[in-house]
Amino acid sequence: MKYRLARQQSCPETDKVIANVIKRQKIAIPRASEKVLKEIAQVSKLIEKEGLPSYLVCKKLPGELGRGIFLHPEAKPIKRGQTIAPYSGVISLIPQNEGGDSNYAFSSLNDLRINKEEHELLNSKQRFHPRRLYWVSLDAEKRGNFTRFINHSSKPNVDAHLLRIPKNSHGLHPSPAEIIYIANRTIHPGEQLLVCYEDEDKSYWGALKIKPFPMTPKTFTIDPSGNLKKQTGRNAL
Ligand SMILES: C[S@@+](CC[C@H](N)C(=O)[O-])C[C@H]1O[C@@H](n2cnc3c(N)ncnc32)[C@H](O)[C@@H]1O
Repeated sequence: MKYRLARQQSCPETDKVIANVIKRQKIAIPRASEKVLKEIAQVSKLIEKEGLPSYLVCKKLPGELGRGIFLHPEAKPIKRGQTIAPYSGVISLIPQNEGGDSNYAFSSLNDLRINKEEHELLNSKQRFHPRRLYWVSLDAEKRGNFTRFINHSSKPNVDAHLLRIPKNSHGLHPSPAEIIYIANRTIHPGEQLLVCYEDEDKSYWGALKIKPFPMTPKTFTIDPSGNLKKQTGRNAL
């Protein structure tokens, strides 16, 4: 797989501004636990080496659904609380009324106010306006890892957590805020990994003006021969 960006890509200036604003606006971002830090370090190595870790499968789904990520039929189950990977992509701090046209962009923070000094640090082409609100876009359109292929479900088995990566002994570069995908239940071999793209703001599907296809981790599975199976009826949803 060509997508091998283990963690989000940002620049020191943007990270500094984001860290300042988080502090000033008193935005509570939990610290990643030692367990999560260790698992991020492990999966990051696999992503850099192989792209897609060997316990996962990337498979084309029917129609417009594109590709999806499955747990390999011969892999060990993924336990609840296990880190899947950071959702990686390119970080930018942009005015709230701009951007957001990528299918792979996550809004990790919203309603941020920056001061003049921070505006200059960002080298923004726009004039400074003290009341302008910004959002943090994390876009995996051009650069990312396998998590960009994880599809949407309103009954997901993976949750997106916004965590702070502190100074650590795992060789991970600290970051003020990073999206980490973590299993919210046991994921069985052959099941699809699914995350819910929206919170209360309902911004993702509304902007695309399409209704998402309803699926659960069991709607499409990979059988022991590696073939895609579609379940129908009640068991599927
Ligand atoms: C982050 S990408 C996920 C990977 C995508 N399937 C691919 O092959 O690149 C998000 C896009 O996948 C498709 N998608 C994901 N979940 C879907 C769902 N439940 N129903 C319909 N389309 C979905 C939509 O086109 C959406 O904009």
